[in-house]
Amino acid sequence: MRMKTVLSVSLLAILLVLGRPVAILGQPGLQPERIVMNLTENPSTSVAVTWRTGTAVQEGFCELQPASATRINAADSRQFRARTTPVRYFSGAEQLPVEVNQHACILTGLTPGGKYLYRVGNGEHWSEWFQFQLPALDGGFSFIYFGDPQSDLRSQWSRVVREAYRKSPDCGFMLYAGDIINRAGRDDEYQQLFDAGGFIFPMVPQVMTPGNHDYRDGKIDPHWNLQFTFPQNGPAGLKGSCYFVDYQNLRLISVDSAAGDELEDENGYEMTAQKNWLDSVLRTNTQEWVIVTTHLPFYSTKDSRDNANLRRNFQPILEKYKVDLVLTGHDHAYGRGSVSDNPAVKPSIVYVVSVSGPKIYEAGSKNWMQKKGSNIQLFQEISIRGDVLKYNAYTVDGKLFDAFEIRNNQRGGKKFVD
Ligand SMILES: [Fe+2]
Repeated sequence: MRMKTVLSVSLLAILLVLGRPVAILGQPGLQPERIVMNLTENPSTSVAVTWRTGTAVQEGFCELQPASATRINAADSRQFRARTTPVRYFSGAEQLPVEVNQHACILTGLTPGGKYLYRVGNGEHWSEWFQFQLPALDGGFSFIYFGDPQSDLRSQWSRVVREAYRKSPDCGFMLYAGDIINRAGRDDEYQQLFDAGGFIFPMVPQVMTPGNHDYRDGKIDPHWNLQFTFPQNGPAGLKGSCYFVDYQNLRLISVDSAAGDELEDENGYEMTAQKNWLDSVLRTNTQEWVIVTTHLPFYSTKDSRDNANLRRNFQPILEKYKVDLVLTGHDHAYGRGSVSDNPAVKPSIVYVVSVSGPKIYEAGSKNWMQKKGSNIQLFQEISIRGDVLKYNAYTVDGKLFDAFEIRNNQRGGKKFVD
């Protein structure tokens, strides 16, 4: 036989031994990949799981059972059938098409504080079993906050998410203030994100608000609502990017400041719908703590930037309902301060700008910043235990960079402690 024929026969033999179609050029196959947990609006009794496969897998399942000390018997599981959506993404500068089926399950009817195991897949092809714990109804929790990951996700953002996980392995969720990737729609950048997140993503729920880099030509990245499963309690047309979650005694709210060309038109739908919605979710709120996350900073670290229309439209609402903390990104530097545009208001809301990825700049000279940082990558651990909110900002090498507490005296007053 000629050498070429030998090689072809050998390759065929290998394929037969493997017994399944082989993924071609990064196309997903039968095995589940990009598995990620997301918070639902009822995080103590449910959680969302999303993954993808090649298009040959036309349905997906999630198997769930309480965690135990003994070996896992799959037959003891409750099975949830996923909602499956075919989608074509594009990868690389060449815009090569990637055909996949996205599968999404919401695991419901769970016990607060319970520890569970799950796996996703179908037929002969399953993920490993992941172990996770739901939050208890009270007793305190912590979460991680990341400013923009955005670029060099596999090579350089990976160490941030891993250091954060090492610092806070019991965190209830990880929160992202937008610009998850650099070029909206790019499937290869999403691959880098998932390579960085590794087994953390299927074990710790991820919560995100979109940034301008998660939008392209006025449309949100098609990955946003298919590769993730976010709460659908926002205004029409902005579901999955504008939403809230009640987590123990916290109401966490995502305002989509990347929509409508960064809310450029103050009378446009994206601005007015979100203002009305925000007012109503704050008016009806009964949670002790309120944190708002949005991509654009209310106060910029950059001397050349100022999102005045964001403040003009949203700050009176945040102040009316005494929001505690506003977590943002976009400026690629660190700034933290408590300030108001209204001279009649005693500032109480703490505004933070941060960055987690390696695209980092100088913080400017604006005097709203009580603490600032230039050319550093950070992550934050925020814990809420009863009447005390503790905020710790760490640099990527694990050193404490900034810290404060807010204490609630329960008589309508909250006290900031630097
Ligand atoms: Fe941005």
